[in-house]
Amino acid sequence: MTLVERMGMAALRRLDPERAHDLALGALSLGFAGGNGPVRSDRLRTRVFGLDFPNPVGTAAGFDKNGVAIRETLRTGFGFVETGAVTPRPQPGNPKPRLFRLEEDGAIINRFGFNNDGAAALAGRLAKARGAGLVGVNLGANRNSDDRAEDFVAGLTLLYPHADFFTVNVSSPNTENLRNLQARAALENLLARVMSARNARFRAQGDGLRRPVLVKISPDLSDAEIADVAEAALTVGIDGIVATNTTLSRDGLHSRHASESGGLSGAPLKARALMVLKRLRRETGGKIPLIGVGGIATSEDAYERIRAGASLIQIYSAMVHEGIVLGRRIAKGLDRLMDRDGVREISDAVGGG
Ligand code: FNR
Repeated sequence: MTLVERMGMAALRRLDPERAHDLALGALSLGFAGGNGPVRSDRLRTRVFGLDFPNPVGTAAGFDKNGVAIRETLRTGFGFVETGAVTPRPQPGNPKPRLFRLEEDGAIINRFGFNNDGAAALAGRLAKARGAGLVGVNLGANRNSDDRAEDFVAGLTLLYPHADFFTVNVSSPNTENLRNLQARAALENLLARVMSARNARFRAQGDGLRRPVLVKISPDLSDAEIADVAEAALTVGIDGIVATNTTLSRDGLHSRHASESGGLSGAPLKARALMVLKRLRRETGGKIPLIGVGGIATSEDAYERIRAGASLIQIYSAMVHEGIVLGRRIAKGLDRLMDRDGVREISDAVGGG
């Protein structure tokens, strides 16, 4: 990090965390972070669920919920971004404070509850960023919705032309009962509805680009529940699984904010997210691409996640501590690690142990 970046990060750390994040995102959207676009190399370029990624390092959902800095984030070096979570209708989310930095633990707790500008606002911003690079949309459900499955369908249907992939987020701990949608029968039913909406939209769009649909799961599932998710995913034929979202666990924390309610992310999530990914890899037998997320802070972490079965990886919490340059740094470090090991492309390393 340069001196200016270090001073900027130190100043942000003294502010209320949500305000600091909004300011950092605002500065990013104004182009302050600079950069020349996604980190590129023959080793890093990878084709996953029919999409060509310049490198496998992306931003995780929640970082830019409303898609205000898509182009600028890609410019800093990321291979892709995931915007959202977006809900069909705008909603304010939970009362503040709802974001906590756990400095001693290298962690974050959030209980935002899907605060966002709604799907129509995001559609406009996505349209403006079209062509900048690969952009996914994390789909959520409105808090007071009568039919949550319908919210996922509505979000996908409206945003279909504007994004490259969609993630069905049934794993946020901050919307009551949302995580129940991960149970086998409920999940199969939900994913089947979303896939049939996707297929209808694909035919109507007529651009030959069948947008992949992924499902994002919680790190708090038991082994049996992970097996159920894998079976549901294989049965319905979805395109990928994102593992994992934030955890309700509070094991081993030292910070004074440790008992705040919400989802925990960052360093304390790393071991569990890796374990869930390994389990998923075993249960899916490599038939469905996986995205690894949770506690990744270095290129070594990213490489480990790829060798455990991830075709792509995402980061969020570590950026709060290290800045937006982390994406570029991890991608470049990954390239060096692969070079060291004589790995010619990402897909050769996926699941290699
Ligand atoms: C998140 N995350 C998240 N995930 C999701 O699917 N939809 C969302 O809207 C959000 N929102 C959100 C807000 C905040 C403030 C944080 C810290 C996280 C979860 C995120 O995408 C990721 O899965 C976890 O944070 C784990 O990765 P890291 O942060 O440990 O790299």
